[in-house]
Amino acid sequence: MHLYVANDYQELSRRAAQLFIEAVSRKPDSAVVLATGDTPMGMYRVLTEHIRAGKLDTSQLLLFQLDGYLGVSLDDPRSLEGWLVRSVLKPWGIPSDRFVRLPEDATDTDLVCSQYDEAVRRIGGFDLAVLGLGPNGHLGFNEPPAAADAPTRVVSLTPESLKSNARYWGSQEQVPRRSITAGMDVLLQARHILLLVSGERKREILRKTLFGPVTEQVPSSFLQLHPNVTIFADRAALPDEAALSRSS
Ligand code: GLP
Repeated sequence: MHLYVANDYQELSRRAAQLFIEAVSRKPDSAVVLATGDTPMGMYRVLTEHIRAGKLDTSQLLLFQLDGYLGVSLDDPRSLEGWLVRSVLKPWGIPSDRFVRLPEDATDTDLVCSQYDEAVRRIGGFDLAVLGLGPNGHLGFNEPPAAADAPTRVVSLTPESLKSNARYWGSQEQVPRRSITAGMDVLLQARHILLLVSGERKREILRKTLFGPVTEQVPSSFLQLHPNVTIFADRAALPDEAALSRSS
């Protein structure tokens, strides 16, 4: 794992965007799975500026939704697909035929999950996975315990996630109880994983991610076994041990 430490969130967003630009410039038809949550929004805004300035060509990019809440419609403010549409698809000009959804209003969830995994397999796996870090180590909504080969599926949110996600929607009661998430399997098979971590409240889980035992109880710890992970963290999120071994 390569750990890059930024002074603050702005620098983290700029440097992560730079890595994204390099990856997509090398392979313009990249298949990329994108997280929502607060952390990647700064990077997405930087990328929007580049795209609007004509410095990044997204005309061949294929995007995948990482996760969502089950049982919400697209026009529900809590829809993570809606969030992705507003913050990425519209500003980047990505048409719906280059976006693979995880439909939050699905009734046949087994079917849509297997179709998603099949779509990922058909294109030969993700070139890049842009992920945030849940306070309990979830990647997407792969709540602990999550096996490294867990498929795309429906997951019940843990009390910890209900609590931490309340900040997006005002109260815990507003947080849907179930989610739909790209599985650990397809995420860990991505050729390159970019993990963005910001703020003091992520320090303990970043420590476990980097230095703790590899365990299903901390799904992000599986990143230790992946050959190509780049972590951008800001100083506030940096555990003490990482200060001694960081790359930059
Ligand atoms: C949420 C989402 C994840 C996200 C993570 C971190 O629950 N399911 O996809 O990456 O938690 O969110 P944030 O970046 O807002 O801290």
